[in-house]
Amino acid sequence: MKIAVLPGDGIGTEIVSEAVKVLEALDLNFEMESALVGGAAYEAHGHPLPESTLKLAKEADAILFGAVGDWKYDKLDRPLRPEQAILGLRKNLGLFANFRPAICYEQLVGASSLKPELIAGLDILIIRELTGDIYFGQPRGRRVATDGHFPGAEEAFDTMRYSRPEIERIAHVAFQAARKRNKKVTSVDKANVLETFQFWKDVVTDVHKEYPDVELQHMYVDNAAMQLVKAPKAFDVVVTGNMFGDILSDEASMLTGSIGMLPSASLNSSNQGLYEPSHGSAPDIAGKGVANPLATILSAAMMLRFSLNQEAAAQRIEAAVQKVLAQGLRTPDIYSEGTTKVGTAQMGDAVVKALTA
Ligand code: NAD
Ligand code: IPM
Ligand code: MN
Repeated sequence: MKIAVLPGDGIGTEIVSEAVKVLEALDLNFEMESALVGGAAYEAHGHPLPESTLKLAKEADAILFGAVGDWKYDKLDRPLRPEQAILGLRKNLGLFANFRPAICYEQLVGASSLKPELIAGLDILIIRELTGDIYFGQPRGRRVATDGHFPGAEEAFDTMRYSRPEIERIAHVAFQAARKRNKKVTSVDKANVLETFQFWKDVVTDVHKEYPDVELQHMYVDNAAMQLVKAPKAFDVVVTGNMFGDILSDEASMLTGSIGMLPSASLNSSNQGLYEPSHGSAPDIAGKGVANPLATILSAAMMLRFSLNQEAAAQRIEAAVQKVLAQGLRTPDIYSEGTTKVGTAQMGDAVVKALTA
């Protein structure tokens, strides 16, 4: 089993090291090979996703990814910016199905500023379409307006776009996932305003006919953003487009205690997957050794489950994470009074110890 390890930038390198430690402790004979990606690859090779990195990723059974990006690249031409690396990997590998499970571990319930009854036992799954929408739609660019409110003015534009097969395949993924859970799908759209998302709603409704055992609910994205904090446990599987899914998953992360607790899996149609925390490179805390590695470690567990056929090992990691939380160990983002503050490496070491104990 070959794992491509792409740490990236900022806290990406710190958190991926911890996940690699955990994978190594499993003694499962993985072959792991690292490569530069994002700003780090731009510095070394002049491109955020060098051919060699893409080749490694394509040939691997699974990819463990950290994060990319730094404010210092904000002025680069868009194709050279670090974020293009993750977008390029998603597109080139066809990683259209993004799973972002928001699970609130019982040890973190009391520490949250949210009411315990709201989040205790929370286990919802956001399924975000990952290779379409306004992220990839063409045309896009800058120009001088020839119409609109200010003809003659400089303007910028992107294209929000979805085809029927793109919506169908993510809808199938969502209904099939719901079948293994509480059999409820909430499809989040903006059908009241956008043609793209009226189409989304129509296609999801069509696909639903094949899943009469699963309940389908449609919800506008603005209401969904509100319901996620009002009554998050009313959701089971949430399926939505690329941009809404990006935003709602960051929001949902706070129901779990921190963005540092939200793992993700991005799969293509052959179940090859890229596994990364849902957060970014966190330049504000990079290099300080305080980032929470648990989202990345939990992403490694998803990798074992979805791409490497190692369910037992996945469960071992998840149990080890719960054990360190039960021991009271907390990185600063999930710290509360009465618990023990630890750094990134100490947290990783504790998970390794809990695995092998
Ligand atoms: P971010 O997710 O990096 O950080 C947002 C906030 O959350 C920061 O205060 C950060 O310190 C905190 N945070 C994030 N992860 C944490 C962790 N593991 N432990 C503790 N605290 C954590 O989002 P941002 O600041 O908007 O973006 C920073 C850079 O990351 C940008 O260049 C952005 O484009 C990029 N980014 C990359 C990815 C990716 O590689 N998939 C995802 C999101 C953002
Ligand atoms: C994410 C990130 C990415 C996205 C960026 C870095 C391109 O925010 O993985 O959630 O918007 O998809
Ligand atoms: Mn995001």
